[in-house]
Amino acid sequence: MKRYEQLAEQIAELIRSGVLAPGERVPSVRQARRSYGVSPSTIFQAYYLLEDRGLIQARARSGYFVRELARQPLAEPGSSAPTATSTEVDVSELVFSVLGSLKDPATVPFGSAFPSPELFPLPRLARSMAHALRDMPGHAVIADMTAGNPDLRRQIGLRYRVAGVSLALEELVITNGAMEALNLCLQTVTQPGDLVAIESPAFYATLQVLERLKLKAVEIPVHPREGIDLGVLAERLANLPIKACWFMSSLQNPMGATLGEAQKAELYALLKRHQVPLIEDDVYAELHYGAQPPRPLKSFDDAGLVMHCGSFSKSLAPGYRVGWVAGGRYAEQIARLKLMTTISPSVPAQAAIADYLQHGGYDRHLRKLRIALETQQAAMLASAARHFPAETRVSRPAGGYFLWFEFPERVDSLQLFQLALAQGISLAPGPIFSATRGFRHCARLNHGHPWDAQSEQAMAALGRILATL
Ligand SMILES: Cc1ncc(COP(=O)(O)O)c(C=O)c1O
Repeated sequence: MKRYEQLAEQIAELIRSGVLAPGERVPSVRQARRSYGVSPSTIFQAYYLLEDRGLIQARARSGYFVRELARQPLAEPGSSAPTATSTEVDVSELVFSVLGSLKDPATVPFGSAFPSPELFPLPRLARSMAHALRDMPGHAVIADMTAGNPDLRRQIGLRYRVAGVSLALEELVITNGAMEALNLCLQTVTQPGDLVAIESPAFYATLQVLERLKLKAVEIPVHPREGIDLGVLAERLANLPIKACWFMSSLQNPMGATLGEAQKAELYALLKRHQVPLIEDDVYAELHYGAQPPRPLKSFDDAGLVMHCGSFSKSLAPGYRVGWVAGGRYAEQIARLKLMTTISPSVPAQAAIADYLQHGGYDRHLRKLRIALETQQAAMLASAARHFPAETRVSRPAGGYFLWFEFPERVDSLQLFQLALAQGISLAPGPIFSATRGFRHCARLNHGHPWDAQSEQAMAALGRILATL
Protein backbone atom coordinates (compact mmCIF):
# COMPACT_ATOMS: atom_id res chain seq x y z
CA MET A 1 0.00 0.00 0.00
CA LYS A 2 1.35 3.46 -0.87
CA ARG A 3 1.92 5.92 2.01
CA TYR A 4 -0.99 8.18 0.98
CA GLU A 5 -3.31 5.15 0.82
CA GLN A 6 -2.23 4.14 4.32
CA LEU A 7 -2.91 7.65 5.60
CA ALA A 8 -6.33 7.70 3.87
CA GLU A 9 -7.10 4.36 5.48
CA GLN A 10 -6.14 5.63 8.95
CA ILE A 11 -8.40 8.66 8.56
CA ALA A 12 -11.26 6.60 7.07
CA GLU A 13 -11.08 4.37 10.14
CA LEU A 14 -11.27 7.44 12.43
CA ILE A 15 -14.44 8.45 10.55
CA ARG A 16 -15.92 4.95 10.55
CA SER A 17 -15.36 4.54 14.29
CA GLY A 18 -16.82 7.98 15.06
CA VAL A 19 -13.58 9.52 16.44
CA LEU A 20 -13.88 12.12 13.69
CA ALA A 21 -17.53 13.18 13.74
CA PRO A 22 -19.64 14.37 10.77
CA GLY A 23 -19.04 18.05 10.14
CA GLU A 24 -15.73 17.98 12.04
CA ARG A 25 -12.60 19.32 10.42
CA VAL A 26 -10.01 16.72 9.45
CA PRO A 27 -6.42 17.57 10.49
CA SER A 28 -4.93 20.52 8.62
CA VAL A 29 -1.87 19.91 6.46
CA ARG A 30 0.35 21.29 9.22
CA GLN A 31 -1.26 19.09 11.91
CA ALA A 32 -1.22 15.99 9.71
CA ARG A 33 2.45 16.61 8.85
CA ARG A 34 3.29 16.74 12.53
CA SER A 35 1.11 13.78 13.59
CA TYR A 36 1.86 11.40 10.73
CA GLY A 37 5.33 12.58 9.64
CA VAL A 38 4.39 12.75 5.95
CA SER A 39 4.87 15.36 3.23
CA PRO A 40 2.14 17.85 2.23
CA SER A 41 1.77 16.15 -1.17
CA THR A 42 1.09 12.78 0.54
CA ILE A 43 -1.54 14.47 2.72
CA PHE A 44 -3.22 16.07 -0.29
CA GLN A 45 -3.23 12.77 -2.20
CA ALA A 46 -4.81 11.06 0.83
CA TYR A 47 -7.46 13.79 1.12
CA TYR A 48 -8.26 13.66 -2.62
CA LEU A 49 -8.77 9.91 -2.24
CA LEU A 50 -11.06 10.37 0.77
CA GLU A 51 -12.97 13.05 -1.15
CA ASP A 52 -13.44 10.61 -4.08
CA ARG A 53 -14.68 8.02 -1.60
CA GLY A 54 -17.32 10.49 -0.39
CA LEU A 55 -16.01 10.60 3.17
CA ILE A 56 -14.76 14.20 3.35
CA GLN A 57 -15.41 17.42 1.47
CA ALA A 58 -13.48 20.63 0.95
CA ARG A 59 -14.94 23.94 2.12
CA ALA A 60 -13.60 27.07 0.45
CA ARG A 61 -10.67 28.55 2.40
CA SER A 62 -11.45 26.37 5.46
CA GLY A 63 -9.93 22.96 4.69
CA TYR A 64 -11.47 19.49 4.66
CA PHE A 65 -14.45 18.33 6.76
CA VAL A 66 -16.07 14.96 7.43
CA ARG A 67 -19.14 14.79 5.21
CA GLU A 68 -22.51 14.91 6.88
CA LEU A 69 -23.43 11.88 4.78
CA ALA A 70 -20.81 9.87 6.66
CA ARG A 71 -22.85 10.29 9.86
CA GLN A 72 -24.07 7.12 11.52
CA PRO A 73 -26.58 8.17 14.13
CA LEU A 74 -28.19 4.72 14.10
CA ALA A 75 -26.45 2.29 16.44
CA GLU A 76 -24.78 -0.93 15.35
CA PRO A 77 -26.56 -4.28 15.96
CA GLY A 78 -25.08 -6.67 18.49
CA SER A 79 -24.05 -10.30 17.96
CA SER A 80 -26.67 -12.78 16.81
CA ALA A 81 -27.71 -15.50 19.25
CA PRO A 82 -28.70 -18.70 17.40
CA THR A 83 -29.77 -21.88 19.21
CA ALA A 84 -27.00 -24.18 20.41
CA THR A 85 -28.44 -27.31 18.80
CA SER A 86 -28.07 -28.48 15.21
CA THR A 87 -31.08 -27.88 12.95
CA GLU A 88 -32.60 -29.45 9.88
CA VAL A 89 -33.00 -26.73 7.31
CA ASP A 90 -36.34 -25.89 5.72
CA VAL A 91 -36.28 -22.44 4.17
CA SER A 92 -36.46 -23.01 0.43
CA GLU A 93 -40.15 -22.20 0.00
CA LEU A 94 -39.78 -18.93 1.84
CA VAL A 95 -36.63 -18.01 -0.11
CA PHE A 96 -38.28 -18.73 -3.46
CA SER A 97 -41.34 -16.70 -2.62
CA VAL A 98 -39.13 -13.73 -1.71
CA LEU A 99 -36.84 -14.11 -4.74
CA GLY A 100 -39.82 -14.50 -7.08
CA SER A 101 -41.02 -11.07 -6.06
CA LEU A 102 -37.79 -9.36 -7.14
CA LYS A 103 -38.19 -9.90 -10.86
CA ASP A 104 -40.23 -6.82 -11.77
CA PRO A 105 -37.71 -4.22 -13.08
CA ALA A 106 -40.03 -1.42 -11.94
CA THR A 107 -39.53 -2.43 -8.29
CA VAL A 108 -37.03 -0.41 -6.22
CA PRO A 109 -34.38 -3.15 -5.88
CA PHE A 110 -33.40 -2.93 -2.18
CA GLY A 111 -33.96 -6.72 -2.02
CA SER A 112 -31.68 -7.52 -4.96
CA ALA A 113 -28.54 -9.64 -4.65
CA PHE A 114 -26.66 -7.65 -7.32
CA PRO A 115 -25.41 -4.13 -7.82
CA SER A 116 -26.85 -2.09 -10.68
CA PRO A 117 -25.84 -3.33 -14.16
CA GLU A 118 -24.94 0.32 -14.88
CA LEU A 119 -21.91 -0.14 -12.64
CA PHE A 120 -20.45 -2.93 -14.78
CA PRO A 121 -18.39 -2.46 -18.00
CA LEU A 122 -20.80 -4.56 -20.05
CA PRO A 123 -20.06 -2.95 -23.48
CA ARG A 124 -16.30 -3.40 -22.90
CA LEU A 125 -16.90 -7.04 -21.92
CA ALA A 126 -18.90 -7.56 -25.11
CA ARG A 127 -15.89 -6.30 -27.11
CA SER A 128 -13.68 -8.74 -25.18
CA MET A 129 -16.11 -11.53 -26.01
CA ALA A 130 -15.97 -10.70 -29.75
CA HIS A 131 -12.19 -10.32 -29.72
CA ALA A 132 -11.56 -13.51 -27.77
CA LEU A 133 -13.84 -15.60 -29.95
CA ARG A 134 -12.37 -14.25 -33.19
CA ASP A 135 -8.91 -15.34 -32.08
CA MET A 136 -9.87 -18.62 -30.41
CA PRO A 137 -8.22 -21.68 -32.01
CA GLY A 138 -10.83 -24.28 -33.02
CA HIS A 139 -9.52 -27.00 -30.71
CA ALA A 140 -9.83 -24.69 -27.67
CA VAL A 141 -13.64 -24.74 -27.90
CA ILE A 142 -13.48 -28.35 -26.75
CA ALA A 143 -10.14 -28.51 -24.92
CA ASP A 144 -10.94 -25.58 -22.60
CA MET A 145 -14.02 -27.32 -21.27
CA THR A 146 -12.31 -29.61 -18.80
CA ALA A 147 -9.50 -27.58 -17.26
CA GLY A 148 -10.93 -24.19 -18.14
CA ASN A 149 -9.48 -21.38 -20.24
CA PRO A 150 -5.69 -21.35 -19.57
CA ASP A 151 -5.44 -17.54 -19.75
CA LEU A 152 -8.29 -17.19 -17.28
CA ARG A 153 -6.60 -19.64 -14.90
CA ARG A 154 -3.35 -17.67 -15.13
CA GLN A 155 -5.11 -14.35 -14.55
CA ILE A 156 -6.95 -15.69 -11.49
CA GLY A 157 -3.66 -17.14 -10.20
CA LEU A 158 -2.04 -13.73 -10.65
CA ARG A 159 -4.75 -12.01 -8.65
CA TYR A 160 -4.22 -14.50 -5.80
CA ARG A 161 -0.51 -13.71 -5.87
CA VAL A 162 -1.21 -9.96 -5.63
CA ALA A 163 -3.53 -10.66 -2.66
CA GLY A 164 -0.69 -12.49 -0.91
CA VAL A 165 -1.75 -16.08 -1.62
CA SER A 166 0.68 -18.27 -3.52
CA LEU A 167 -1.36 -20.91 -5.21
CA ALA A 168 -0.50 -23.93 -7.35
CA LEU A 169 -2.63 -23.46 -10.48
CA GLU A 170 -3.59 -27.15 -10.31
CA GLU A 171 -5.70 -26.24 -7.26
CA LEU A 172 -8.01 -24.10 -9.39
CA VAL A 173 -11.31 -25.45 -10.67
CA ILE A 174 -13.29 -23.06 -12.89
CA THR A 175 -17.01 -23.34 -12.21
CA ASN A 176 -20.45 -22.00 -13.16
CA GLY A 177 -20.31 -19.12 -10.73
CA ALA A 178 -19.33 -19.44 -7.09
CA MET A 179 -22.62 -21.19 -6.44
CA GLU A 180 -21.51 -24.31 -8.28
CA ALA A 181 -18.13 -24.17 -6.55
CA LEU A 182 -19.77 -23.98 -3.12
CA ASN A 183 -22.15 -26.85 -3.93
CA LEU A 184 -19.33 -29.07 -5.22
CA CYS A 185 -17.15 -28.35 -2.18
CA LEU A 186 -19.88 -29.25 0.26
CA GLN A 187 -20.74 -32.41 -1.65
CA THR A 188 -17.07 -33.39 -1.65
CA VAL A 189 -16.63 -33.29 2.12
CA THR A 190 -20.03 -34.35 3.51
CA GLN A 191 -22.62 -37.14 3.52
CA PRO A 192 -26.37 -36.71 4.16
CA GLY A 193 -27.06 -36.25 7.87
CA ASP A 194 -23.67 -34.61 8.60
CA LEU A 195 -23.31 -31.44 10.64
CA VAL A 196 -22.01 -28.28 8.96
CA ALA A 197 -21.10 -25.09 10.84
CA ILE A 198 -22.46 -21.95 9.20
CA GLU A 199 -22.87 -18.33 10.18
CA SER A 200 -26.04 -16.95 11.70
CA PRO A 201 -27.36 -15.07 9.78
CA ALA A 202 -26.13 -16.83 6.62
CA PHE A 203 -26.49 -16.23 2.88
CA TYR A 204 -29.85 -17.88 2.05
CA ALA A 205 -28.41 -20.07 -0.71
CA THR A 206 -26.10 -21.64 1.89
CA LEU A 207 -29.20 -22.77 3.75
CA GLN A 208 -30.78 -24.08 0.55
CA VAL A 209 -27.68 -26.13 -0.30
CA LEU A 210 -27.70 -27.67 3.19
CA GLU A 211 -31.40 -28.44 2.78
CA ARG A 212 -30.86 -30.05 -0.64
CA LEU A 213 -27.97 -32.22 0.60
CA LYS A 214 -29.87 -33.16 3.79
CA LEU A 215 -27.19 -31.69 6.04
CA LYS A 216 -27.79 -30.20 9.48
CA ALA A 217 -26.82 -26.63 10.31
CA VAL A 218 -24.85 -25.69 13.40
CA GLU A 219 -25.35 -21.94 13.52
CA ILE A 220 -22.50 -19.83 14.90
CA PRO A 221 -23.20 -16.28 16.19
CA VAL A 222 -21.89 -13.38 14.11
CA HIS A 223 -21.11 -9.82 15.16
CA PRO A 224 -21.61 -7.25 12.36
CA ARG A 225 -18.07 -5.88 12.71
CA GLU A 226 -16.06 -8.61 14.38
CA GLY A 227 -17.45 -11.60 12.49
CA ILE A 228 -18.08 -15.10 13.82
CA ASP A 229 -17.74 -15.85 17.50
CA LEU A 230 -14.58 -17.94 17.70
CA GLY A 231 -15.24 -18.97 21.31
CA VAL A 232 -18.58 -20.52 20.38
CA LEU A 233 -17.08 -22.14 17.30
CA ALA A 234 -14.26 -23.68 19.39
CA GLU A 235 -16.81 -25.08 21.82
CA ARG A 236 -18.98 -26.54 19.02
CA LEU A 237 -15.98 -28.09 17.26
CA ALA A 238 -14.91 -29.70 20.52
CA ASN A 239 -18.36 -31.15 21.28
CA LEU A 240 -20.08 -31.87 17.98
CA PRO A 241 -18.99 -34.05 15.04
CA ILE A 242 -18.86 -31.12 12.62
CA LYS A 243 -17.74 -32.31 9.19
CA ALA A 244 -17.21 -28.95 7.48
CA CYS A 245 -17.44 -25.21 8.01
CA TRP A 246 -18.85 -22.78 5.45
CA PHE A 247 -17.92 -19.19 6.32
CA MET A 248 -17.36 -15.80 4.77
CA SER A 249 -14.39 -14.35 6.62
CA SER A 250 -14.60 -11.03 4.72
CA LEU A 251 -17.65 -8.89 3.90
CA GLN A 252 -20.02 -11.53 5.18
CA ASN A 253 -23.43 -11.69 3.53
CA PRO A 254 -25.73 -10.40 5.01
CA MET A 255 -24.10 -8.71 8.05
CA GLY A 256 -21.00 -7.35 6.32
CA ALA A 257 -18.44 -8.41 8.94
CA THR A 258 -14.76 -8.87 8.15
CA LEU A 259 -12.63 -10.75 10.67
CA GLY A 260 -9.36 -9.09 11.70
CA GLU A 261 -6.12 -10.80 10.66
CA ALA A 262 -5.42 -12.13 14.17
CA GLN A 263 -8.93 -13.63 14.30
CA LYS A 264 -8.41 -15.18 10.87
CA ALA A 265 -5.17 -16.79 12.07
CA GLU A 266 -6.96 -18.05 15.18
CA LEU A 267 -9.83 -19.45 13.12
CA TYR A 268 -7.46 -21.24 10.80
CA ALA A 269 -5.50 -22.71 13.75
CA LEU A 270 -8.77 -23.98 15.22
CA LEU A 271 -9.81 -25.70 11.99
CA LYS A 272 -6.38 -27.20 11.57
CA ARG A 273 -6.37 -28.53 15.13
CA HIS A 274 -9.68 -30.30 14.46
CA GLN A 275 -8.81 -31.11 10.82
CA VAL A 276 -12.15 -29.72 9.70
CA PRO A 277 -12.25 -28.41 6.11
CA LEU A 278 -13.39 -24.86 5.46
CA ILE A 279 -15.43 -23.73 2.48
CA GLU A 280 -14.51 -20.05 2.29
CA ASP A 281 -17.09 -18.06 0.34
CA ASP A 282 -15.25 -14.91 -0.74
CA VAL A 283 -17.40 -13.53 -3.56
CA TYR A 284 -17.21 -9.93 -2.28
CA ALA A 285 -13.40 -9.95 -1.95
CA GLU A 286 -12.90 -7.30 -4.64
CA LEU A 287 -15.47 -4.88 -3.20
CA HIS A 288 -13.48 -3.64 -0.18
CA TYR A 289 -13.53 0.14 0.34
CA GLY A 290 -10.05 0.40 1.84
CA ALA A 291 -6.92 0.41 -0.32
CA GLN A 292 -5.95 -3.16 0.59
CA PRO A 293 -8.09 -6.27 0.04
CA PRO A 294 -8.86 -8.16 3.25
CA ARG A 295 -6.64 -11.22 3.55
CA PRO A 296 -8.49 -14.48 2.77
CA LEU A 297 -8.25 -17.40 5.20
CA LYS A 298 -6.78 -19.27 2.25
CA SER A 299 -3.59 -17.25 2.75
CA PHE A 300 -3.01 -19.09 6.06
CA ASP A 301 -3.66 -22.52 4.58
CA ASP A 302 -0.51 -24.62 4.75
CA ALA A 303 -2.47 -27.90 5.02
CA GLY A 304 -4.80 -27.71 2.00
CA LEU A 305 -7.88 -27.52 4.24
CA VAL A 306 -9.42 -24.39 2.74
CA MET A 307 -11.58 -24.43 -0.39
CA HIS A 308 -11.61 -20.78 -1.42
CA CYS A 309 -14.55 -19.87 -3.68
CA GLY A 310 -14.62 -16.72 -5.81
CA SER A 311 -16.63 -15.27 -8.66
CA PHE A 312 -16.85 -12.49 -11.24
CA SER A 313 -20.63 -12.19 -10.70
CA LYS A 314 -20.45 -9.38 -8.15
CA SER A 315 -17.53 -7.38 -9.43
CA LEU A 316 -17.49 -7.67 -13.20
CA ALA A 317 -19.81 -9.92 -15.15
CA PRO A 318 -23.13 -10.93 -13.61
CA GLY A 319 -24.83 -13.52 -15.75
CA TYR A 320 -21.62 -14.78 -17.36
CA ARG A 321 -21.65 -17.49 -14.68
CA VAL A 322 -17.91 -17.75 -14.22
CA GLY A 323 -16.52 -18.52 -10.79
CA TRP A 324 -13.89 -20.80 -9.34
CA VAL A 325 -12.58 -22.62 -6.33
CA ALA A 326 -9.00 -23.00 -5.14
CA GLY A 327 -9.73 -26.41 -3.72
CA GLY A 328 -6.65 -27.27 -1.64
CA ARG A 329 -6.34 -31.00 -1.00
CA TYR A 330 -9.88 -31.53 -2.34
CA ALA A 331 -9.27 -29.97 -5.77
CA GLU A 332 -9.15 -33.19 -7.74
CA GLN A 333 -12.32 -34.59 -6.18
CA ILE A 334 -14.09 -31.29 -6.82
CA ALA A 335 -12.94 -31.28 -10.47
CA ARG A 336 -14.21 -34.84 -10.96
CA LEU A 337 -17.55 -34.03 -9.40
CA LYS A 338 -17.84 -31.07 -11.76
CA LEU A 339 -17.13 -33.31 -14.76
CA MET A 340 -19.86 -35.66 -13.59
CA THR A 341 -22.42 -32.89 -13.27
CA THR A 342 -22.10 -29.80 -15.47
CA ILE A 343 -18.75 -30.54 -17.23
CA SER A 344 -17.81 -26.90 -17.67
CA PRO A 345 -18.89 -23.29 -17.57
CA SER A 346 -19.37 -21.75 -21.01
CA VAL A 347 -16.04 -21.57 -22.89
CA PRO A 348 -16.91 -18.24 -24.64
CA ALA A 349 -17.79 -16.62 -21.30
CA GLN A 350 -14.45 -17.74 -19.84
CA ALA A 351 -12.57 -16.47 -22.90
CA ALA A 352 -14.32 -13.08 -22.70
CA ILE A 353 -13.39 -12.61 -19.06
CA ALA A 354 -9.81 -13.76 -19.67
CA ASP A 355 -9.47 -11.20 -22.47
CA TYR A 356 -11.00 -8.47 -20.31
CA LEU A 357 -8.67 -9.24 -17.40
CA GLN A 358 -5.69 -8.90 -19.72
CA HIS A 359 -6.74 -5.83 -21.71
CA GLY A 360 -9.92 -4.29 -20.27
CA GLY A 361 -8.71 -2.32 -17.23
CA TYR A 362 -10.24 -4.45 -14.45
CA ASP A 363 -8.46 -2.64 -11.63
CA ARG A 364 -9.55 0.75 -12.94
CA HIS A 365 -13.16 -0.52 -13.11
CA LEU A 366 -12.91 -1.90 -9.56
CA ARG A 367 -11.62 1.41 -8.18
CA LYS A 368 -14.65 3.22 -9.68
CA LEU A 369 -17.05 0.52 -8.53
CA ARG A 370 -15.77 0.63 -4.93
CA ILE A 371 -16.10 4.41 -4.79
CA ALA A 372 -19.66 4.22 -6.13
CA LEU A 373 -20.64 1.57 -3.59
CA GLU A 374 -19.08 3.41 -0.66
CA THR A 375 -20.76 6.69 -1.63
CA GLN A 376 -24.12 4.92 -2.01
CA GLN A 377 -23.62 3.26 1.38
CA ALA A 378 -23.19 6.68 2.99
CA ALA A 379 -26.35 7.88 1.21
CA MET A 380 -28.43 4.92 2.41
CA LEU A 381 -27.13 5.24 5.97
CA ALA A 382 -27.98 8.92 6.06
CA SER A 383 -31.40 8.28 4.55
CA ALA A 384 -32.15 5.50 7.07
CA ALA A 385 -31.23 7.88 9.87
CA ARG A 386 -33.71 10.41 8.49
CA HIS A 387 -36.62 8.05 7.89
CA PHE A 388 -36.39 4.90 10.05
CA PRO A 389 -37.38 4.65 13.75
CA ALA A 390 -34.62 5.97 16.01
CA GLU A 391 -34.18 2.57 17.72
CA THR A 392 -33.25 0.95 14.39
CA ARG A 393 -29.77 -0.52 14.32
CA VAL A 394 -27.64 -0.89 11.22
CA SER A 395 -24.34 -2.44 10.21
CA ARG A 396 -21.63 -0.44 8.50
CA PRO A 397 -19.46 -2.81 6.47
CA ALA A 398 -16.11 -1.74 5.02
CA GLY A 399 -17.14 -2.95 1.56
CA GLY A 400 -19.84 -4.53 -0.57
CA TYR A 401 -23.37 -3.26 -1.13
CA PHE A 402 -25.54 -4.58 1.70
CA LEU A 403 -26.69 -3.07 4.97
CA TRP A 404 -28.17 -5.25 7.70
CA PHE A 405 -30.98 -3.53 9.60
CA GLU A 406 -32.29 -4.57 12.99
CA PHE A 407 -35.67 -2.89 13.52
CA PRO A 408 -37.51 -2.57 16.83
CA GLU A 409 -38.68 -6.02 18.10
CA ARG A 410 -42.33 -5.26 17.25
CA VAL A 411 -41.54 -5.16 13.50
CA ASP A 412 -42.33 -8.32 11.53
CA SER A 413 -40.05 -8.09 8.48
CA LEU A 414 -42.18 -10.53 6.46
CA GLN A 415 -45.12 -8.18 6.91
CA LEU A 416 -42.86 -5.22 6.12
CA PHE A 417 -41.75 -7.09 2.98
CA GLN A 418 -45.37 -7.57 1.80
CA LEU A 419 -46.42 -4.00 2.55
CA ALA A 420 -43.30 -2.58 0.86
CA LEU A 421 -43.77 -4.77 -2.19
CA ALA A 422 -47.32 -3.46 -2.57
CA GLN A 423 -45.69 -0.02 -2.92
CA GLY A 424 -43.12 -1.26 -5.46
CA ILE A 425 -40.18 -1.64 -3.06
CA SER A 426 -38.32 -4.90 -2.48
CA LEU A 427 -36.16 -5.91 0.47
CA ALA A 428 -34.69 -9.14 1.83
CA PRO A 429 -36.49 -10.04 5.10
CA GLY A 430 -34.43 -11.49 7.99
CA PRO A 431 -35.98 -14.99 8.18
CA ILE A 432 -34.57 -16.03 4.77
CA PHE A 433 -31.09 -15.80 6.32
CA SER A 434 -31.78 -18.27 9.12
CA ALA A 435 -32.16 -22.05 9.37
CA THR A 436 -34.74 -21.49 12.09
CA ARG A 437 -36.49 -18.51 10.47
CA GLY A 438 -35.07 -16.18 13.09
CA PHE A 439 -34.20 -12.50 12.56
CA ARG A 440 -37.89 -11.68 12.24
CA HIS A 441 -37.31 -8.02 12.94
CA CYS A 442 -34.31 -7.71 10.60
CA ALA A 443 -33.82 -7.08 6.88
CA ARG A 444 -31.02 -6.71 4.36
CA LEU A 445 -31.12 -3.70 2.04
CA ASN A 446 -29.06 -3.34 -1.13
CA HIS A 447 -27.36 0.01 -1.88
CA GLY A 448 -25.72 -1.18 -5.09
CA HIS A 449 -27.75 1.16 -7.29
CA PRO A 450 -26.98 4.82 -8.01
CA TRP A 451 -28.72 6.86 -5.33
CA ASP A 452 -31.48 9.10 -6.67
CA ALA A 453 -34.76 10.74 -5.74
CA GLN A 454 -36.59 7.42 -6.17
CA SER A 455 -34.23 5.71 -3.66
CA GLU A 456 -34.83 8.51 -1.17
CA GLN A 457 -38.63 8.32 -1.65
CA ALA A 458 -38.52 4.54 -1.21
CA MET A 459 -36.63 4.91 2.10
CA ALA A 460 -39.21 7.47 3.24
CA ALA A 461 -42.02 5.06 2.27
CA LEU A 462 -40.34 2.24 4.22
CA GLY A 463 -40.05 4.61 7.18
CA ARG A 464 -43.79 5.34 6.99
CA ILE A 465 -44.61 1.62 6.90
CA LEU A 466 -42.26 0.94 9.83
CA ALA A 467 -44.04 3.59 11.86
CA THR A 468 -47.32 1.68 11.47
CA LEU A 469 -45.98 -1.73 12.51
C1 LIG B 1 -22.45 -14.88 -0.37
C2 LIG B 1 -22.65 -15.34 -1.75
N1 LIG B 1 -22.04 -16.45 -2.17
C3 LIG B 1 -22.21 -16.91 -3.43
C4 LIG B 1 -23.03 -16.26 -4.32
C5 LIG B 1 -23.21 -16.83 -5.69
O1 LIG B 1 -22.29 -16.29 -6.60
P1 LIG B 1 -22.36 -16.63 -8.15
O2 LIG B 1 -23.30 -15.68 -8.79
O3 LIG B 1 -20.94 -16.48 -8.63
O4 LIG B 1 -22.79 -18.05 -8.29
C6 LIG B 1 -23.68 -15.10 -3.92
C7 LIG B 1 -24.61 -14.41 -4.85
O5 LIG B 1 -25.62 -13.87 -4.49
C8 LIG B 1 -23.49 -14.62 -2.62
O6 LIG B 1 -24.08 -13.51 -2.17
